[in-house]
Amino acid sequence: MTAQDLPMVYRQHLQEIQRRATAALERGGFDHLVVPAGSAHYQVFDDRDYPYAVNPQFKAWLPLTRIPGSWVVFTPGERPRLIYLQPFDYWHAVPEAPRGYWVDEFEITIIRTADDALQHLPASPARCAILGEPQSALGDYVPNNPEPVLAYVDYHRARKTPYEIEMMRLASAHGVRAHRAAERAFRAGASEFGIHLAYCQAARQDANDLPYGNIVGLNEHGAVLHYTERDRLPPRESRSFLIDAGASHAGYACDITRSYAADTSGAFQQLIDAVDVAEQRLCDQVRPGVDYRQIHLDAHLEIARILRETGIVDMAPESMVETGVSAKFFPHGIGHYIGLQVHDVGGFAQSDSGGTIDKPDGHPFLRLTRTLEPGAVVTIEPGLYFADLLMQELRDGAHAGSVDWDKVEAFRPFGGVRIEDDVVCTEDAPINLTREAFAALE
Ligand code: GLY
Ligand code: MN
Ligand code: MN
Repeated sequence: MTAQDLPMVYRQHLQEIQRRATAALERGGFDHLVVPAGSAHYQVFDDRDYPYAVNPQFKAWLPLTRIPGSWVVFTPGERPRLIYLQPFDYWHAVPEAPRGYWVDEFEITIIRTADDALQHLPASPARCAILGEPQSALGDYVPNNPEPVLAYVDYHRARKTPYEIEMMRLASAHGVRAHRAAERAFRAGASEFGIHLAYCQAARQDANDLPYGNIVGLNEHGAVLHYTERDRLPPRESRSFLIDAGASHAGYACDITRSYAADTSGAFQQLIDAVDVAEQRLCDQVRPGVDYRQIHLDAHLEIARILRETGIVDMAPESMVETGVSAKFFPHGIGHYIGLQVHDVGGFAQSDSGGTIDKPDGHPFLRLTRTLEPGAVVTIEPGLYFADLLMQELRDGAHAGSVDWDKVEAFRPFGGVRIEDDVVCTEDAPINLTREAFAALE
């Protein structure tokens, strides 16, 4: 897709968003959809704000992530309206005047104070579905987040438009550029903090933009699933490196994990390679009609086979899965929807009018239980870790005798492995946004 195509694909995206909003309002019996962008949150007893995060329901409409105090208003059959807050303010940088490929699609009203929005909102708040957080309330415009409206839009958000997939492709390009810089920093002996800075520099993003906090773990820290401490000084020896870090583009996320060994001819590198091969087989299962829960269960079998082939556990892979032994090494879900949010909404939705699809028994951390359809974008992120707490549970359990504890001890200083790609389900072969982006760098 070229830059010239962008206005057209965006227009088609917006038409789809309007179609969904119209149907959702009908479900809820409302006349207008009203979506506040949200506002800054402040630290307790302080005047310092947290990084501003736009309401995801707002950025579904247009690629603006930094205009707090603004609102989208949609009335079926009419052009969507944007109430755009451009305050008179000499303390902060003020949002620039609206411009870009999206501008022609909106009726835009500029306001100078947040309260001015009130006079441009529909006359009767009771007729509005207002999607937002409580602190966005303005006068009688209190977010009501009606369940039938949210159920409809969140369910259908699983099917990304071509515009959205293009935005995620661009987010992936930022992410892989930064992942390469992070690997270079690791091989040069940088600290976790130094690697994090190299990542942010290459992505040209920081806490204001990144879709989640970078996970940058050296050695044993690779076994901590959401390790975000970032030691300021390098360890004496950097044996291994796990980085789970994303990037954003126009409000859309990528979510990428890579694992590295300092010694590329050692046993830990072989473990990484084995997880990588398994991960690509799982990515290939991202096809229409596939129950995502099955990919998760198949991932357990893949990890169990690796555990047996490497001699870490001497059990049949099927019984490792049944008895929960594989879950001691792979203790999280195989992945999730991704899009406007890194963990995108609607993962358990049974239909566009509500209901929940249960997780498989014994798999409490899976975030997606739906059947895949074209346009779904999911992560595939198998892992294999040597986490002290879980290894102790295994040691205390009924299957301790099937584990080669010397091998576990030998791998423990390397933490663990996770490989994560973002994959688009299509009518044909899946599109791996992450691997395409890495390949484009070469
Ligand atoms: N980065 C969080 C996750 O992979 O889900
Ligand atoms: Mn993920
Ligand atoms: Mn991740």
